[in-house]
Amino acid sequence: MITTCIFDAYGTLFDVTSAARAVANEEKHITFAKHWVKVANTWRSKQLQYTWLRTIMNQYSDFWQVTKDGLDFALEESGIQSSELRERLLALYWKLSAYPEVQGLLSNLKSNGYNTGILSNGSPDMLDSAVNSAGLNDVLDAVLSVDNIGIYKPSKHVYQMVLDNFKCSAEQILFVSSNSWDVAGSTKFGFQTLWVNRNSEPPDRLDARPRWTAKNLVSIPTLLKDLA
Ligand code: 2OP
Repeated sequence: MITTCIFDAYGTLFDVTSAARAVANEEKHITFAKHWVKVANTWRSKQLQYTWLRTIMNQYSDFWQVTKDGLDFALEESGIQSSELRERLLALYWKLSAYPEVQGLLSNLKSNGYNTGILSNGSPDMLDSAVNSAGLNDVLDAVLSVDNIGIYKPSKHVYQMVLDNFKCSAEQILFVSSNSWDVAGSTKFGFQTLWVNRNSEPPDRLDARPRWTAKNLVSIPTLLKDLA
């Protein structure tokens, strides 16, 4: 029986493109408007690539460092050299918007007796900042960062952190992520998984598929009620 709902952070609870989108709409950065989509996509891709490569190479740097490195690659790729724009983008990354359904969903889960938490590559201070700026402190029982073990998702050691923290079995966990590679890793580990496919992407060709797929988080309370 599911007792605990754990969420990936970036792309699942927080909109990773909201920083670049916001800056592109600022009068002062109007020239960035034609670059922001490519920069945002490359920024996210390189950020994730660096987590996987650094784990394989056993050369851990925290998520804030690989976030800065990913942005520097993306800006250079688009021929942008403005350090002021770089600092503005990085500043907004600390307070990414939460998706509109997040607050209500987490409140609903707590009022129905579920444990809730975040499991993320994000560094502790990045996650604290994102949770605080989105006002989610009161609806999360735990915020777990891979920084405590120095290994990134989808390593099984990351998912083990959830069982160690909540003292429960894998079957009791509903794990929700927008990253299908994260869903594959957590499904293989033994969690019950929901892939929130916000951008209608194809699934990654990895060994495990999610138990559920949805466009957003709204259906989770009904899904849990049907299981109870
Ligand atoms: C996370 O928050 C990278 O989205 C991934 O762990």
